[in-house]
Amino acid sequence: MTTHPTPRPESVSQPRMVEQLVTGQPTSDGAGVQLTRVLTQALQRRLDPFLMLDAFGSDNPDDYIAGFPDHPHRGFETITYMIAGRMLHRDSAGHEGLLENGGVQWMTAGRGVIHSEIPQQEAGVMEGFQLWLNLPGRDKMCAPWYRDFAAADLPRFVTGAGVTVTLIAGSSHGVTGAVTREATLPLYLDLHLPAGASFAQSLPATHNAFIYVYRGAVSVAGQSIPTQHMAILANDAAADGVVIEATEEAKILLIAGQPLHEPITQHGPFVMNTAQEINQAINDFRTGRLGSVE
Ligand code: CO
Repeated sequence: MTTHPTPRPESVSQPRMVEQLVTGQPTSDGAGVQLTRVLTQALQRRLDPFLMLDAFGSDNPDDYIAGFPDHPHRGFETITYMIAGRMLHRDSAGHEGLLENGGVQWMTAGRGVIHSEIPQQEAGVMEGFQLWLNLPGRDKMCAPWYRDFAAADLPRFVTGAGVTVTLIAGSSHGVTGAVTREATLPLYLDLHLPAGASFAQSLPATHNAFIYVYRGAVSVAGQSIPTQHMAILANDAAADGVVIEATEEAKILLIAGQPLHEPITQHGPFVMNTAQEINQAINDFRTGRLGSVE
């Protein structure tokens, strides 16, 4: 269902500053998919509850065609947002779905999912993002869950300044996104800003927040953020939000969430609290108990 909610203005009187600009690391994952790891393991604590953000984008099929064959996950959620192209996913519980232009797959791996993510095209542009969102320790072994949202299913509105806002998670301007989560209260917005437009978003001071610019350039509190850069927003106790100005036509992701303040132990596709839980995950995967349908 397409929603056409009426936005209410957000009031931000003390905007956050930029703490740090980050350029992603070119890397390859899955069966040789070329991508940029924007949020790396070194930033997991600073950007708690987010564990990873990958940006993939190429018009060369050699960079993406082999996709991500069967692989496991445990202990967190993956949110895949396709800007262009088509990706088929299949998992160990027998689910299957096709992600297309502008669609989102939200998957809660919980105690374990084995899935594949394979491009369904042999030519053209493939572009998108995968964000990893942590689960609190009490939910890491929950039953797996997923949902596909077509572009038309995502709440979307246009502000008075002409900014098109797609709400993948959380709330903005009185409109609630496709997914909400109590423990981490994630906000995940895709913003398309015309040149010169400004966008304000209130944010709790304790929430960790960042922006990723994937087209054009923006400015936050006087700091310019060029294309393909992430800006980590400072956590100032007095700040009540962020104000983003488009210095040229821009497309950006604004992501924020409530930190879990729990130990983070990652081993590849498993993210748990302790080394013992990681060993259990590895063992369960080896013995076929991870992702088995119970
Ligand atoms: Co995966």
